Amino acid sequence: MSAHGAIVLVGFMGAGKTTAAQRVGAERGLRVTDVDRVIESRGGATIAEIFARDGEPAFRALEEEVVCELLAGARQGEIVSLGGGAVTSERVRAALAEHLVVWLDVDPALAWRRAADSDRPLSRDRASFHARHAERLPLYARVADAVAPAHARVSFGRLHDAVEQLRHAPVATRLLWAVSGSAEYPVWIGRGLLGSGLWPLPRSPARRFCVTDEHVAALWLDAAGELDEVIVIAAGESSKSIEEAQRIWRELAQRGMTRADHLVALGGGVVGDLAGFCAATYQRGVPVVQVPTTLVAQVDSAYGGKTGVDLPEGKNYVGAYHHPAGVLVDPATLQTLPAQESSAGYAEVIKTAIIAGGTLWERIVADQPIDDGVIFDCAWCKLSIVATDERDEGRRQVLNLGHTVGHALETVTEYRRYSHGEAVGLGLLAALSLSGRGDLRARVAELLSAHGLPTRADGVDPAAVAAATQRDKKRLGGAVPFVLVDAPGAVRHGGEVAPHQLRSALAELCA
Ligand SMILES: NC(=O)c1ccc[n+]([C@@H]2O[C@H](COP(=O)([O-])OP(=O)(O)OC[C@H]3O[C@@H](n4cnc5c(N)ncnc54)[C@H](O)[C@@H]3O)[C@@H](O)[C@H]2O)c1
Repeated sequence: MSAHGAIVLVGFMGAGKTTAAQRVGAERGLRVTDVDRVIESRGGATIAEIFARDGEPAFRALEEEVVCELLAGARQGEIVSLGGGAVTSERVRAALAEHLVVWLDVDPALAWRRAADSDRPLSRDRASFHARHAERLPLYARVADAVAPAHARVSFGRLHDAVEQLRHAPVATRLLWAVSGSAEYPVWIGRGLLGSGLWPLPRSPARRFCVTDEHVAALWLDAAGELDEVIVIAAGESSKSIEEAQRIWRELAQRGMTRADHLVALGGGVVGDLAGFCAATYQRGVPVVQVPTTLVAQVDSAYGGKTGVDLPEGKNYVGAYHHPAGVLVDPATLQTLPAQESSAGYAEVIKTAIIAGGTLWERIVADQPIDDGVIFDCAWCKLSIVATDERDEGRRQVLNLGHTVGHALETVTEYRRYSHGEAVGLGLLAALSLSGRGDLRARVAELLSAHGLPTRADGVDPAAVAAATQRDKKRLGGAVPFVLVDAPGAVRHGGEVAPHQLRSALAELCA
């Protein structure tokens, strides 16, 4: 990406690139170039006619020429929208390196519905349409500086402004655009973001109130940039309490926080959930910026707007949905993370990879290192699911894979014996047993073990765990619904599990 390049939209046919480019152009007063229109005017025919007349190879050659010529002259202040197949050219991909590339990621079923009604030459047969979509995904992912869902709710003007901020971000920073039923926000992921000055909210007149824990304060507070007030909590799950929330509310009030100000959650999932909850409730809601510093938080908890505290009766029993105004993920902060906490995060990575399937699962099952790309893909997987179901009423429940038993284990061991990640790893194994996927369970157990995570809940009473699952928040009266795995990438929620199946899976786990 060059600091002076244009913004270039890429994505599969039916993603809505033309409409998005026109909207951004109109909202932000930018010049818009639609490459397909230029090709049609050069070819003296519509794209469909050129395809029919000259064949796909000739069309691709013409497209490559036109795209490379247009990209060579495109500058900041211009939006260029490319055809869906342009990224298949190596020359085009090389030319894109000079620009800010935004991938509009469209669900193939939606793309098919949109494209099937058009005269697009490649939308005649559903199976080859889906195959083409799957082939191109890695190409879009490779060139993209930013990814946004091809969603009707996206505010393209705001997305544009967040993309523009990438020009001033540390090298290799990428942006995810989070969209859900009630909010949209930027998620920047890049080494060196902490203290880089990039921020989702205006500096003035807002004051930044930071909540962090004692460990993170000692290690990363100085690097975190300008913060006006800092409240430090004790590290660990026991701080996720209503008493600690009250202490923070009162500190905020005593230090004069108003609704013009915002809260910064600098730390792991405990800080994120607690500070997010305080932000949701203080003066009925102030903005929060999540700055996650653990692997758990960077791959999972910082996104999606769930905030809350624990009760002795159950984990996360009191809370609110409160989406962040933005998330800043600096993977460099993980360098000080104790090994045990990296392992805990690894459990969430495996969970997400099983849900996502595809290339993320392939990397994880091959035990490749957890790099910035894995963090990015995990975040995108979670955000894509939240985009379709903000309030856990359907698809979002798959994100609780391993959590029903995991939370029950945490509760019966009074949050002392297992970290959340360790409990989730054990819960995953139980979920795979309940899914009848012994083969997958065995491989996941190997991976968990290789990353220092327990694969048995030795000495824990299975009957107590079974009883604790009955208090799972997902239970709406009847039986507790489980998230079950048919295969990596094919995970379903609301699965019914007979009591004897649960007993046997827990007996295996606690043996
Ligand atoms: N809201 C959600 O969607 C969601 C999702 C998953 C988990 N969670 C919650 O997240 C919590 C667990 O989060 P966690 O695993 O991040 O735990 P945590 O916040 O307790 O952090 C773990 C430990 O790492 C330390 N730490 C944090 N960053 C560090 C760094 N960069 N270097 C050195 N030490 C560092 C912390 O001080 C703490 O001691 C649980 O309460 C869980 O319920 C929430």
